[in-house]
Amino acid sequence: MNLDKNLLPHHVGIIMDGNGRWAQNQGLIRSAGHLAGVKTLKEIIKTAVNIELEALTVYAFSTENWNRPHTEVDFLMHLFSEYLEKEKRELNEKNVKIHFIGRIDELPESLIKQARDAENMMMNNTGLKFNVATNYGGQDEIVRATQKIARQVNEGTLKVDDIDADIFEAALDTCDSPPVDLMIRTGGDLRVSNFLLWQSAYAEFWFTETPFPNFKPEEFLQALSDFAKRDRRFGSIK
Ligand code: FPP
Repeated sequence: MNLDKNLLPHHVGIIMDGNGRWAQNQGLIRSAGHLAGVKTLKEIIKTAVNIELEALTVYAFSTENWNRPHTEVDFLMHLFSEYLEKEKRELNEKNVKIHFIGRIDELPESLIKQARDAENMMMNNTGLKFNVATNYGGQDEIVRATQKIARQVNEGTLKVDDIDADIFEAALDTCDSPPVDLMIRTGGDLRVSNFLLWQSAYAEFWFTETPFPNFKPEEFLQALSDFAKRDRRFGSIK
C-alpha cells in the first residue's frame, strides 16, 4: 500500500477490543485472547515504526477493568510485566519511547518498577512515542490534570485567568504527544469507552468488526489509508 507521508496521522489511538470474544468463540479461555492480542500489538508497533508514525496510544487496561474476575486481572498484570521484560530491549533498539499513562501508582509494585525502568531506558529516544494506557480513564485523567492546575493556582505559581487549552494539555498524561488524529476501535462496538476524551476532540474514528487478535498490519494500513481521504475541517468551512 502506497501511503503519502504528508497525509499520515501524527497520533493514532487504538482501543484493542474483542480479545475475550475472539478466544471464547474458539472454546478458549478469555485470557488466551489477551495473549494473542500481544502478538498483534507487536506487529502493529513494527508497522508504526516502519511508517515513522509519531505517536501511538493503546488502551491496555481501564480504571473499570478492575471489576473483571481476579484471574483475568492477574493474568493481564502478568502479561504486561512479561511483555516489558521480553520486548523492552527491542523497543529501545527501534528508538521507541515508551510512556505509561493512567494511575500507574495503583498498579502492582513490581509492575510499577518495570514500567519506570522501561521509561527510563527509552527516555532519550526520538522515534515512535508509544503510550500504554494502564489503569487509565479519560475522565480520571481530566480530574487529575485539574487537580495539578488547581495546586499551581493555590501555590500562587499560576493565575486562574491564565489557564487555557495549552496549560490544560500540558497537565495531561499525554503532554508529550500531539492530539489524536485517528482513533481505531476493533471488536465491533461503536463507543469511546472513556479513552483519550480530551485528546480525541477532533479525531477521525475508524471502527472494525475484526477482534484485536485478528487485526493485522494490512488492516491497520487500510485505516491509515482511509484517514488520508478524510476531509478534516476542524469546525471550519472550506
Ligand atoms: C479488551 O478486550 C482488551 C483488554 C482489556 C486488554 C488489552 C490487552 C492486550 C491486547 C494485551 C497487550 C497489551 C500490552 C500493553 C502488552 P476485551 O477483553 O474487553 O474483549 P471482549 O470485548 O471480547 O470481552
